[in-house]
Amino acid sequence: MSKRGAFIVIEGLDRSGKSTQTALLLSRLESARIPAKLLKFPDRTTAIGKMIDSYLKSQSDLDDHAIHLLFSANRWELASSIEHLLAAGTTVVCDRYAFSGIAFSASKGLPYEWCRAPDVSLPAPDLAVFLDITPEAAKARGGYGEERYEKEEMQRRVREVFRRIGEEIKGSGLGAWVWVDAGREKGVVAEEVWGHVELLARGVEGPLCRLWTDEIPA
Ligand SMILES: Nc1ncnc2c1ncn2[C@@H]1O[C@H](COP(=O)(O)OP(=O)(O)OP(=O)(O)O)[C@@H](O)[C@H]1O
Ligand SMILES: [Mg+2]
Repeated sequence: MSKRGAFIVIEGLDRSGKSTQTALLLSRLESARIPAKLLKFPDRTTAIGKMIDSYLKSQSDLDDHAIHLLFSANRWELASSIEHLLAAGTTVVCDRYAFSGIAFSASKGLPYEWCRAPDVSLPAPDLAVFLDITPEAAKARGGYGEERYEKEEMQRRVREVFRRIGEEIKGSGLGAWVWVDAGREKGVVAEEVWGHVELLARGVEGPLCRLWTDEIPA
């Protein structure tokens, strides 16, 4: 049986280096002649993505529940493309995914389980790499930008929810979750990320899992 592509998600706080590391990972995969595609969430190019973009830039206001569902819908818009790419043997690398959606909305005070529900049964990554950095160190990287959420206190809460999500993923056997110390030099972080990804990127034999489907009654 031919192997499918690996589904790799890079998560982390704002300014932890996700875009830097996903770009480095893509070039590394290309050098290794492994077909790979980079996706970024939110995908601001779709109709739903444009609403999210306007919200993040504070050009529009939305109820917390409504924006949460839009973020999730934005992932569902891309879900079948992800599946097709993986089935065709392409490794998919995502800059943020469902875990960010849950972490941010739960940090605003919405119930954790409610936040997770719309993402249940999305394609599950074979590996989630969480780029861990203190909010202080992240802030020191040129400071936070102008968008919503880019405040130190919010980032602190988000980090806690990510910790819970990671522990649960690790405990459930639903793919793997690794924490990487992202406070170090870019090349050092990239080496460690590659160490986690390399074997998977050579192809995955098992079927693609779905997020948290075992936790809801059929
Ligand atoms: N290991 C590193 N050490 C020092 N600076 C870094 C490191 N990685 C990235 N940076 C710098 O920190 C800033 C944020 O990096 P990057 O854009 O990759 O983070 P991000 O997690 O994608 O942020 P955002 O959440 O805003 O999209 C950039 O200016 C980048 O050049
Ligand atoms: Mg980024």
